[in-house]
Amino acid sequence: MSAQSDLSSKVTIATLKAKKSAQEKITALTAYDAAFAGVLDASGVDFVLVGDSLGMVVQGRDTTISVTVDEIVYHSQLVSRGLERSLLMADMPFMSYATPDDCLRNAARMMKEGNAEVVKLEWGALEIDMVYRLTECGVPVCAHLGLTPQAIHKYGGYKVQGREAGAAIQMKKDALELEQAGADILLLECVPMTLAQEITDQAKIPVIGIGAGQQVDGQILVLYDVLDIAPGKRTRFSKNYMEQESSIQAAVSAYVREVQLGEFPTAEYAFK
Ligand code: KIV
Repeated sequence: MSAQSDLSSKVTIATLKAKKSAQEKITALTAYDAAFAGVLDASGVDFVLVGDSLGMVVQGRDTTISVTVDEIVYHSQLVSRGLERSLLMADMPFMSYATPDDCLRNAARMMKEGNAEVVKLEWGALEIDMVYRLTECGVPVCAHLGLTPQAIHKYGGYKVQGREAGAAIQMKKDALELEQAGADILLLECVPMTLAQEITDQAKIPVIGIGAGQQVDGQILVLYDVLDIAPGKRTRFSKNYMEQESSIQAAVSAYVREVQLGEFPTAEYAFK
């Protein structure tokens, strides 16, 4: 039985790596509570992210910056109660991994209190060192590259990253170094599809995309965008599955199916 069709066994990092090797697409969505987590789990979503998008889609803020470690730990606890099979990933909030002590202490809280199985860090000059230290301590890590919303005030807006030749070369180098430092998963947000494909081809670890085109190992979206209940304007790279389905469960299942079949994202949801 393929890794993709086996809905009975618990998803682990090894499952995701096996899917990359078998060229089976990995599916992921965000969740913030037990009820939605249960729907995702039952629909066969491989991993569920308690994202700091929490700040925007649940708390109604303009950015993710105010989200705290306590809040992610709390929502991660809620999500973990809804999951049986899916892997649970939790976001490290802005400035919660700025020093090695903070990084290790807060990652420990994500895992010990929040029941997270993987922690996610957004790219910054410090990240390689932090990934190395977390790996030394046995903490599974996802490294988030491309558009990193915690740096929104540096970018001055939510913009596609890696379009210029120099930035693309740097992103490929960063991806390689993060893998060498021990990252288990890479996540690329708002990256031109050809660059995302090059990084995916070069990486031995799974590469998950959001606004990164179809030629990556898997996809993630913010659940509230999929259900069209996020406040404000929907991002160009996300798809409203409630347009074609009549229940939340059916919408999530349609997303899973389209990702697995390579039908999502089409070019209209990707960047050149
Ligand atoms: O916080 C979040 O939901 C994320 C996804 C956009 C990948 O980081």
